[in-house]
Amino acid sequence: MAHRFRIAINTGGGDAPGLNAVIYAVTMAAHGRGWEVHGIQQGYAGLFDTSKIIQLTPERVAGIMAHGGTILGTTNKGDPFRRPHERPDGTIEFRDESDRLVENFRRLGFDVLVAVGGDGSLQLAHRLSEKGLRVVCVPKTIDNDLAATQQTFGFDTAVSTATEAIDKLHSTAEAHERVMVVEVMGRYAGWIALHSGLSGDSDVILIPEIPFDIDKVCDRIMENEVRGKRHGIVVVAEGAKVGGQLVTREKTDERREEVVLGGVAEWVAKEIARRTGKETRSLVLGHLQRGGSPTTWDRLLSLRFGAAAVRFIAEGERNVMVAWQPPLMKAVPLSEVIGKTKLVPVDSDTVQTCRDLGISLGD
Ligand code: F6P
Repeated sequence: MAHRFRIAINTGGGDAPGLNAVIYAVTMAAHGRGWEVHGIQQGYAGLFDTSKIIQLTPERVAGIMAHGGTILGTTNKGDPFRRPHERPDGTIEFRDESDRLVENFRRLGFDVLVAVGGDGSLQLAHRLSEKGLRVVCVPKTIDNDLAATQQTFGFDTAVSTATEAIDKLHSTAEAHERVMVVEVMGRYAGWIALHSGLSGDSDVILIPEIPFDIDKVCDRIMENEVRGKRHGIVVVAEGAKVGGQLVTREKTDERREEVVLGGVAEWVAKEIARRTGKETRSLVLGHLQRGGSPTTWDRLLSLRFGAAAVRFIAEGERNVMVAWQPPLMKAVPLSEVIGKTKLVPVDSDTVQTCRDLGISLGD
């Protein structure tokens, strides 16, 4: 008789629309094979507080597919190799408690962990696999910057949200004859800025992959004036660098390793106003891009990722990430994907399309 797997599933890092659809697909595909699925709460943290683990049944996941967020909760502070503990004096001490996590996993009788997450979560999964845990990962990030997979779920929804916001900015920019500078997410890669900026009919798109010259940005804005267009739209990825440096916010949480990005739009807006004399405003779309119901495209991709993860478990795969390599779903060894970033190719057709349509990339 075939082995009846007991699967644990968690969602880690920043949320992305489509997480619930992955959970749904894993649950249904596993249940169809007579397997069990258990949901771990708050990323890896839930493997320490095991009382909160929930069994996922078809009844429990009914109707979740279309919802944003994740029914399991998520965190970007759940590193089991670096668990924060507050000392009596209020300072934070970090302890490696990964062995305890592996022990808990085994004690609960789990065979495999389906870890749904971005690069940080994949790196943790890889380290846990080196300690003997069997993992199958599903790639998640609205930034679309994970290697080996053509796309991650959440990206399409984020681009749709950003494009809708840019569409709305056109009328107010035109009414006031202003330049609007919109900051979108994208730490290392400019996928969201590029796709929403192009689809949203912007004048300038600034992405981390293409260093920009603020004078060139201003030249493009002034070209509008010559053509009788008195307003302009600039879309900038949060990871676009100013003088080779990321623009960051003050760190408010010691437990978080990553720097918090934000503020590049404000810098660009001030410079445009100073150099061109144009009234300029900036706004940050921020977490709006991570919210809401996944688009049909993201839902479909999430469901395919989840079902493929279960198929790969049945086929005996271990320590892999499910990657969409059209038209197939492939199992790619974690060691081949972690720490790699899928950047926008600067000679891609989409970049070329921007240039053909007169959109400046600031270079
Ligand atoms: O990685 C996805 C992402 O949305 C980045 O674009 C952004 O810098 C980061 O998450 C923000 O994360 P947080 O939820 O900690 O604000």
